[in-house]
Amino acid sequence: MPAPDLDTIVSLAKRRGFVYPSAEIYGGFANTYDYGPLGVELKRNIRDAWWRSMTRERDDIVGIDAALISNPKVWVASGHVATFNDPLVDCKKCHQRFRLDHIEEGQYGPAQRDAAGNLLCPNDQGELTEPRLFNLMFKTQVGPVAHEDATAYLPPETAQGIFINFENVLTSTRRKLPFGIAQTRVSFRNEITPGRFIFRTLEFEQMEMEYFVMPPKDRENPAEYLALYEEWVQERLNWYINTVGISPERLRIRPHDPAELSHYSVGTSDVEYLFPWGWGELEGIACRTDFDLTQHGQLSGHPITYFDEETNTHVVPWVIEPAAGLNRTLAVTLLEAYTEEPDEKGDKRIVLKFKPNIAPVKVAVLPLSKNEKLRPAARRVYDLLRPSWMTQYDETQSIGRRYRRQDEIGTPLCVTVDFQTVGEDGQPGDDAVTIRERDSQEQTRVPIANLLQALRDKLPGC
Ligand code: GLY
Repeated sequence: MPAPDLDTIVSLAKRRGFVYPSAEIYGGFANTYDYGPLGVELKRNIRDAWWRSMTRERDDIVGIDAALISNPKVWVASGHVATFNDPLVDCKKCHQRFRLDHIEEGQYGPAQRDAAGNLLCPNDQGELTEPRLFNLMFKTQVGPVAHEDATAYLPPETAQGIFINFENVLTSTRRKLPFGIAQTRVSFRNEITPGRFIFRTLEFEQMEMEYFVMPPKDRENPAEYLALYEEWVQERLNWYINTVGISPERLRIRPHDPAELSHYSVGTSDVEYLFPWGWGELEGIACRTDFDLTQHGQLSGHPITYFDEETNTHVVPWVIEPAAGLNRTLAVTLLEAYTEEPDEKGDKRIVLKFKPNIAPVKVAVLPLSKNEKLRPAARRVYDLLRPSWMTQYDETQSIGRRYRRQDEIGTPLCVTVDFQTVGEDGQPGDDAVTIRERDSQEQTRVPIANLLQALRDKLPGC
């Protein structure tokens, strides 16, 4: 099925409790969203899948959780105070503000120019101001008195919390190169570009890992370093396909042009997804070299190094950084999972075909009807499953409608308790239930005594 349009997903996300526009009762707030009961589970499942693949399934990566607000010198050393800027222009007629590069890239439709070749406002073709550089970091004040020395920054990336803890982790874990440090955390950027749902928001969660390796022998020709970087690019692409369940045909790798490289990188490739509006970044894999550790070593006056026992020298490790966007990945899981198909009556069946490991609800327990006789057995099954999986109980409306509701939120399995389970007309029940599968709609009868194992077999990785 072709990808659905964005409005379909935005509306389903709100209706079913995945993502809400923030502060709607006050007219909203640009580029800000809240996550509802299903959204928070979906986000947690994607984050957990990333964490598992980085820290549990490998033995060379450990995790940390660094403070959000820290010494402002961190952001001076990282280069973000001086260079984390976007070129902004204002329309002299409608006074709307735009990122110059976004107008040039055609994000607002084909770029329009006047007779002299100057770019015009994409909104009303008004004259634009000269571009001004605008720093994307949010500033705040720490302590009771507001003065310049009290200025601190909300982090625009998680990576710096890792770099400033490199030596701590090295000392406390006695790691040898190569090894990585992973972190998932919220970051903040004062983005002015409106729209596109949760693709670009003021606050967003990143899943970042800094992989520290021995510096290359030849800085100008770091062949082994670049080969490892290529391996990480492939590894990360495969994660989106195999773990998150994204179609390979809507994913691609795009190496950055030299002009678009971040100030810390000598080479970056993005994993991109074909969104309804075109290709967009899910993750950047960057060659950060020894830039960050060297910068922090110089500004703090405390060189950050690794002692190489083979050569008896202190070296500054080089870094490969896969940096993924959690909220964007969540948007993609909704776009990818959304399916419309005819049901047995020819009506439209909307199904979110999430991979079971990321589905927010794994099992729904549905008594066939609201009949009092079914409730005790249905509640017993619900209590049996809850410790193992996120499970919902629903006894309102017809069973057909409840199946549809679960299909629309992507629940892989429903367990139905009926009169055969509990017995009828003086006949004993079979104490068995029906498992109904979301995608095939196939039904299998399983004794309650075997239910946990039967579900475990159908929910790999959950
Ligand atoms: N740490 C890389 C980024 O924020 O994009």
